[in-house]
Amino acid sequence: MTADVILETHGLTKEFRGFVAVRNVNLQVRRGTIHALIGPNGAGKTTVFNLLTKFLAPTSGRILYHGRDITAMKPADVARLGIVRSFQISAVFAHLSVLENVRVALQRPLGTSFHFWKPESTLAGLDRRALELLDAVGLPEFADRPAAELPYGRKRALEIATTLALDPAMLLLDEPMAGMGHEDIGRIAGLIRRIARDRTILMVEHNLNVVADLSDTITVLSRGEVLAEGPYAAVSRDPRVMEAYMGTTVEEAGHA
Ligand SMILES: Nc1ncnc2c1ncn2[C@@H]1O[C@H](COP(=O)(O)OP(=O)(O)OP(=O)(O)O)[C@@H](O)[C@H]1O
Ligand SMILES: [Mg+2]
Repeated sequence: MTADVILETHGLTKEFRGFVAVRNVNLQVRRGTIHALIGPNGAGKTTVFNLLTKFLAPTSGRILYHGRDITAMKPADVARLGIVRSFQISAVFAHLSVLENVRVALQRPLGTSFHFWKPESTLAGLDRRALELLDAVGLPEFADRPAAELPYGRKRALEIATTLALDPAMLLLDEPMAGMGHEDIGRIAGLIRRIARDRTILMVEHNLNVVADLSDTITVLSRGEVLAEGPYAAVSRDPRVMEAYMGTTVEEAGHA
């Protein structure tokens, strides 16, 4: 492993009753970058995420984080090490206020010294930290509103705030822009860029304009296998990638 690689996989493979959803995937995610995982429906992107966060066990292959083999670890243990995935919307407590949602996330018992705000885990300290996080995701003026009242895009921002509460070194986002309108997409893209300043982001995203705009490196999966990898300009010109996107060019797909 090279020094600047934070997460890597070797021969990562997942079979479901003989169907190979992920085949021999070798990923190298460099520290401090935004790395996108793209590919047609059913390519295996979410399965890779589930393998990385230990929600699924690989059939074969290895996962290394900071050079350490985490293949056999449990989800809570990899979260504790600093790999956190975005939660589903359902993880937002609708009846709690926006601020309370973040406070709950800050109090999630991971039982580790990674919680650098621990010394001030008084109510006031928690509120202060929660407000900082709301500020970071552009939601301070929504603090006292019930989460249920937030528009969709703002809910996704709240969800990102609750993942940031764990202070992850690496954040995995599965389709952060799904179902969003133009304005929300712009706002969440700006948010991702900001939080990537001191973290590594691995993101699955279908919106190729967003991918082109944000990503340092793109890995294209097709039928479980890595088809191409590199910066957007190179990947989007790759004939195999165009083919995988069913005859359209990636540029066209991005504007679809
Ligand atoms: N638990 C499972 N059991 C059986 N097959 C599965 C399971 N999970 C995923 N698959 C299959 O594995 C393949 C990859 O699915 P996956 O959800 O990883 O794709 P994806 O790239 O995330 O697609 P999408 O863009 O639609 O989200 C699909 O053919 C899917 O049907
Ligand atoms: Mg998916």
